[in-house]
Amino acid sequence: MAEANPFLDSLRLERRVPPCAIVIFGANGDLTKRKLIPALYRLAFERKLPPACAIFGNSRTPMSDDDYRGKMKEATQQFLEDSPFDEALWEQFARNLYYVAGDLKDPAFYQQLKVQLAAQETATGGNVLFYLSTQPSHYEPAVEGLGAAGLNVGGLPKAWRRVVVEKPFGHDLASARELNKVLQSAFPERDVYRIDHYLGKETVQNVLAFRFANGIFEPLWNRRYINHIQITAAESIGVEGRGAYYQESGALKDMIQNHLLQVMATIAMEPSAVFEPTSVRDERAKLLRSIRIHSEAELATHTVAGQYGSGRVGNADLPGFRQEPGVSPDAQTDTFAAATFFVDNWRWAGVPFYIRTGKRMPKRVTDIAIHFNAAPLSIFERDAPGQTARPNLLIIRIQPEEGISLRFLSKNPGGGMRLRPVSMDFSYGSSFGVRTPTAYETLLEDAMAGDATLYTRQDMVEASWQVVQPISDYWRSHYHVFPNYEAGTWGPQASDEMLARRGHVWRVP
Ligand code: BG6
Repeated sequence: MAEANPFLDSLRLERRVPPCAIVIFGANGDLTKRKLIPALYRLAFERKLPPACAIFGNSRTPMSDDDYRGKMKEATQQFLEDSPFDEALWEQFARNLYYVAGDLKDPAFYQQLKVQLAAQETATGGNVLFYLSTQPSHYEPAVEGLGAAGLNVGGLPKAWRRVVVEKPFGHDLASARELNKVLQSAFPERDVYRIDHYLGKETVQNVLAFRFANGIFEPLWNRRYINHIQITAAESIGVEGRGAYYQESGALKDMIQNHLLQVMATIAMEPSAVFEPTSVRDERAKLLRSIRIHSEAELATHTVAGQYGSGRVGNADLPGFRQEPGVSPDAQTDTFAAATFFVDNWRWAGVPFYIRTGKRMPKRVTDIAIHFNAAPLSIFERDAPGQTARPNLLIIRIQPEEGISLRFLSKNPGGGMRLRPVSMDFSYGSSFGVRTPTAYETLLEDAMAGDATLYTRQDMVEASWQVVQPISDYWRSHYHVFPNYEAGTWGPQASDEMLARRGHVWRVP
């Protein structure tokens, strides 16, 4: 059954976003500056933001509305992706941008916020989207404060109150459950939007279209035809001033627990019977629950932790992770994480899913490579051994050069049956020639419209933690000889060895 919502068009074709207010906790933080305000501005540019949308930023630093507007203007000019900055539109947008200083542990702050929200109520209809973008330790006080002040329920009839929760959702299974308990003491599940921005990326959404709108791929999408799958999310940047956060988190929790397991679920889930939030999320959740939890013996062979040391990329000498500001000189943090997963269901039994992610790799690239089985009989091998050794490969490029390529073997022109791999390519840029919305634009619009299809649910979060926590516990209980890869390389040798055990090799993206 579709979740009853008058604003919901489950294919999101004719969406109406109702008037509402948005309250951003953590208004001075990096995410707000780099992603949230530019996304909201861009939605205004596209005329997708309701005209009466009032945006309130909160943090502890005292600041006037005008000072805040000035800061956000600078940030938007700097971080707006692939689109022009329009001065007149900014002026209009900024008139609805307010700043409310206050401590999230102080009950008086919520009373002040209440007064400010009430002043906008005629325009916003009393609808409010709260966005938790603070340090995670402030999530609980914020939710408790909202609940105690009665801000979690709308005063006007039919007014809604929703809360968007940024990652990390807990730092392990127990803390994720605890955070959920706090959230649900103030907001019912249908109003809790756990964001995972990878699910909002166009290319990740397109995996669903590719798989479930075409008849030719899905019949091949199983253990009979697929040999293994590689998911790579490489970043060339280091920790960019986030050393203190990252030191505690590490790559496994920063990327695999959330983004990459969600990508894997999108690749491997069963088709949902209808395209609406509950069905799609049920299928993702089922897949996440089917990922095999590694045994103690498997943890040693199926997972690899790495940390970068200094290195040279192009003409630049880069420091090692332990030399980054805010990082301790003997940090045991993983800046690279790789794992082999198996999905214990009929479709995927025995097919390895290799996932790797890391900072300071040779380039920024996220892609999924589906390696198909070789042809059952190599009739072209007799006098040219090895020429069919590179079987079919489907590459789904999530970023930066969004597209899909299918590699197959072709006859080289000229005499003789000499073969060589060629590629059929689809590129977003040349096929559509339009700008794709950023993940945050899509997801903010969805949350305002009440569409949770691309948001994670508590059962999904818990299933991911169930997979990731044993790895994290295992890594913590072992001393790592770090650094074990140079900045600007593809990670530690152990990651290649992990694949080599099954005769596989990481593809160079
Ligand atoms: C964030 C992580 O969630 O995702 C960052 O905290 C990472 O460490 C980022 O850099 C990657 O996102 P994207 O969209 O740039 O691939």
